[in-house]
Amino acid sequence: MIFGASGDLTHRKLVPALYNLFRKDRLMRHARIVGVARRPWDNERFRWGLRQATQEFSAETFDEEIWYEFEPLVTYYQGNLEHPGDYQSLAVHLDQLEGGPADRLYYLAIAPDLYIPTVECLGQAGMAEENGGTRRIVIEKPFGRDLQSAHELNQAVHYVFNENQIFRIDHYLGKETAQNILFFRFANTIFEPVWNRRYVDHVQIAVAETVDVGHRAKFYDSTGVLRDMFQNHLLQLLTLIAMEPPASFDDNALRNEKVKVLQAVRPVDIEDTILGQYEGYCETEDVRPDSVTPTYAALMLHIDNWRWQGVPFYIRSGKVMASKTSEITVVFQRPPHVMFNLPEGNQLTPNILSMCIQPDEGIHLKFETKLPDSGQETRSVDMEFHYRSSFGNGPLPDAYERLLLDAMQGDASLFARSDEIEHAWKIIDPIVAAWENEPQRRPYPYQRGTWGPDEARLLMRRSGRSWRLGCGDHDVMIQ
Ligand code: BG6
Repeated sequence: MIFGASGDLTHRKLVPALYNLFRKDRLMRHARIVGVARRPWDNERFRWGLRQATQEFSAETFDEEIWYEFEPLVTYYQGNLEHPGDYQSLAVHLDQLEGGPADRLYYLAIAPDLYIPTVECLGQAGMAEENGGTRRIVIEKPFGRDLQSAHELNQAVHYVFNENQIFRIDHYLGKETAQNILFFRFANTIFEPVWNRRYVDHVQIAVAETVDVGHRAKFYDSTGVLRDMFQNHLLQLLTLIAMEPPASFDDNALRNEKVKVLQAVRPVDIEDTILGQYEGYCETEDVRPDSVTPTYAALMLHIDNWRWQGVPFYIRSGKVMASKTSEITVVFQRPPHVMFNLPEGNQLTPNILSMCIQPDEGIHLKFETKLPDSGQETRSVDMEFHYRSSFGNGPLPDAYERLLLDAMQGDASLFARSDEIEHAWKIIDPIVAAWENEPQRRPYPYQRGTWGPDEARLLMRRSGRSWRLGCGDHDVMIQ
């Protein structure tokens, strides 16, 4: 059941993902997809739009014949989510369609201010009761806009659904490369022994985008980069990189470890935060002309536990950056003693492990070698793994395929638990508050197509470090 079926998310992501699951024989042939929205559409009109969208957004896998088999599974139901009476008739419609016990997954692809009313109406209509089949609910981000609103939302949802029925989506967790962080760390033996304060100098997490706020300006202007990207995607990547090995891939075991990381994050010193806004942002339609909404942020975090004491984590994300790249870079310490005669003033370059989440998905390990035909000179070289060359040229599955399948199967490992969401807000809220409430703090301007404001570079330079990009063709150090 997709609530908000006429919207962008349904067309761009959800239905293309369901179509691809069907194509791979992962969606049960007896499954039914019911879209609910207010528009006076019929099945034909709904399917027509979905077909156009799937053709566009799933271009590489679109197959006419498979679409004709898939299409009859999809139906449309016109209803107003703000009318409790519509849920009663919807419940009757679903009972008839199912003709017996069936599992249901409700997907809220709707505006966040409708989450609570919709959940309450589902409860009142008895649609959360698991008599004869499971009832699960998927909730999209934003999950609140601060700790208090997230807590209220958690409470309202818990009033109707149990935690094991709730699936809070963070699409970064569905990305193949983000999932691979856990496999890289815990399906190998050689990395984990050095994954700690004794060998790691610092860690960088970057999610740089080239797009601007575009048609989402209204939403974005009241949100900003800290709420839009840090509270969720970046902190989720942090937990995957920093967590202790869970005993199993069980959803609770995994999420317990992630929560421990968030709990151990030291309150961020505001002097270790830099916010930026790209030039021209305030001229965007639907943006306030005097807006101080940040479109870029860089922070330094510390995790106060045995493994990470003293290791800074530098995290940054921004819109309209020089290139699109999401990557995690682990910079190791330099060797404790240099036995080679390096040219005057030279140091050995540290080993660097870069995990590229997107777009050139892969992993790079940089290490030192002797420069051939030299006495004792060294050069850094790169050991590379690319998904493209190891697993063929086909596209990696979209994050929504994995997440929809897991939610249908009741596996919550790649979804955020209520306490995880709240702990993440506890880290972000004070930073947002300090920048919003102290008039002398305004985001630093930066030019479009750059790596953000100069002040972010100074944040690094203070500790003698620099931002790095080690994936794809970049391999650069941004001084
Ligand atoms: C979304 C944010 O959650 O993630 C967007 O709301 C952002 O502002 C997007 O552009 C980035 O996702 P991806 O998968 O393109 O890196």
